[in-house]
Amino acid sequence: MSEGFIKEISARETWLVRHPVLRAGRPLEDCVFPHDEDQSTAHFGAFHQGHLVGVVTLLHPTEHQFQLRGMAVLTDLQKLNIGSRLVNHLEARVNSIGGGRIWMNARALAVPFYLKLGYHICSEVFEVPGIGPHYVMEKTVS
Ligand SMILES: CC(C)(COP(=O)(O)OP(=O)(O)OC[C@H]1O[C@@H](n2cnc3c(N)ncnc32)[C@H](O)[C@@H]1OP(=O)(O)O)[C@@H](O)C(=O)NCCC(=O)NCCS
Repeated sequence: MSEGFIKEISARETWLVRHPVLRAGRPLEDCVFPHDEDQSTAHFGAFHQGHLVGVVTLLHPTEHQFQLRGMAVLTDLQKLNIGSRLVNHLEARVNSIGGGRIWMNARALAVPFYLKLGYHICSEVFEVPGIGPHYVMEKTVS
């Protein structure tokens, strides 16, 4: 999708996409993730025709270690490259602050998406209660 742009957004704005995609049918409070409001945390939103359609969160707890969280694109607009562009944007931010290891708990269904972006699996499969099977995936950017 060529149209659209990505910009930094607030934690609260991410709920607009987190809720329908990642926490459907659950209370809105379930969209609050730990460390969302930390000063070192950044949230990015992808906009299409003026509407927020994709989100991702970057946690930076320690030097050169980054966690990607809350990756989601509205269902009707998936597989249009929006998720890839968000990850590219997040990686550019990581690069701009010195690079490092980016990791995430990837839903098994999303593993092919992250593999295409150069991440690799570095754990056994594990279950996140109420959500399903996950793997830790990682990539070092510099
Ligand atoms: C996973 C997700 C974020 C990907 O975003 P997206 O905008 O749909 O992905 P893109 O269009 O950038 O896809 C990039 C490539 O990955 C592939 N891909 C994306 N999602 C995929 C999936 N679930 N299974 C297999 N391949 C997938 C695309 O087909 C595309 O391949 P191509 O380059 O050969 O065409 C999005 O589908 C989503 O929100 N899914 C539901 C929530 C979720 O699982 N989030 C991840 C939590 S860890």
